[in-house]
Amino acid sequence: MTSGVTQTSSDAKKNDNDTGEHLHWNDSYNTGDEKTDAEHHRLFALINEFQDAIQDHLESDNLAILFSVIVDTFNVHFSKEEVKTKILSYPNFESYIKNHCNLLSAAGRVKLNLEEKVAGAPGTAFMFLKNWVKIHIASGHQGKSHV
Ligand SMILES: [Fe+2]
Repeated sequence: MTSGVTQTSSDAKKNDNDTGEHLHWNDSYNTGDEKTDAEHHRLFALINEFQDAIQDHLESDNLAILFSVIVDTFNVHFSKEEVKTKILSYPNFESYIKNHCNLLSAAGRVKLNLEEKVAGAPGTAFMFLKNWVKIHIASGHQGKSHV
């Protein structure tokens, strides 16, 4: 069975431009917070747009720009959640912040590979984004971020 954020065999790359299926929203991803869900939907749409750009053979420099837009969108989303989490005195707030910082740092390295036109960088960038949103939303279901 295929779910929107679960990697399946159809995700296996046949070449650098074959990234598998689009992400598909599943109602089980809903957090119950309308604004949070709207931002998650936006992240899905941007990641699918990135995938389309890869398949349309967009230049690496432009892929890097689109990647940055997505990372910035994640960052804004994280910042809002961090404020909300801190306000609610989330017990693991420090590890929550550290995890976000690590992801942003890794995103910087992925972007650099796109800019330097490293072989396979577009597919790697797409999988990075796909896994990022998957882990982020899954963490919300464990009550770790979407408080
Ligand atoms: Fe979120």
